[in-house]
Amino acid sequence: MCAERRKSVAVAITGASGALYAVRTLAALLADGLHVEVVISDYGRRLLRDELGDQASVDRLRPFLVEKYGENVDAGSMTIHSNRDLGATIASGSHGCMGMVIVPASMKTLAGVAHGLSRNLVERAADVMLKERRPLVIVPRETPMSLPQLRNMVLCAESGAIVLPAMPAFYQMPKSLDDLADFMAGKILSALGFDHALYPAWTGQVPK
Ligand SMILES: Cc1cc2nc3c(=O)[nH]c(=O)nc-3n(C[C@H](O)[C@H](O)[C@H](O)COP(=O)(O)O)c2cc1C
Repeated sequence: MCAERRKSVAVAITGASGALYAVRTLAALLADGLHVEVVISDYGRRLLRDELGDQASVDRLRPFLVEKYGENVDAGSMTIHSNRDLGATIASGSHGCMGMVIVPASMKTLAGVAHGLSRNLVERAADVMLKERRPLVIVPRETPMSLPQLRNMVLCAESGAIVLPAMPAFYQMPKSLDDLADFMAGKILSALGFDHALYPAWTGQVPK
């Protein structure tokens, strides 16, 4: 894997509940000094504002991340792509992007990835990850799930994606929503192959 490919990672935010998971993941990758290729669907943009407030709107995202997660977010850089731009860098396998996470992933986008539709940049970039055999982490959020939704997760897993449902654990004794988001972001970073300190390693006992 070339050096350039190691440094760049894609984060897609789609219109499922759980915008906090997305911003926590984004902040952690930036704090690691990575270049992050960000693409947000129309409903992803709406969910950012609905769940986190106007200060988390796309045009104010970076200051929002710095204010919430601290200056170390400035260690990394990000490019925000239009979901309509199928000519963006991450739409091509020749671009040095080492992996991608879709967090949260709507059932619509899950279906599009499962069936290789490439209708927008989120789906195309995910398709690129699968064809290039690079890590693709999909964080679906829906409950309960229909049979087609369950089958779409199986199709993605069969194609090589890591299906990592938005299911935070409680054995870490979370005290806040941020603790739950830390857990999910840590799981995502691990799945992408990055070290992190977002939650303590399991010691065999619940933390006191
Ligand atoms: C407030 C709100 C919450 C939603 N939550 C979810 C959700 O948790 N899971 C899901 O699959 N769809 C959810 N949806 C529906 C999706 O946003 C919708 O299917 C949309 O077309 C997804 O498009 P996208 O994948 O391009 O973002 C929600 C929509 C709204 C307005």
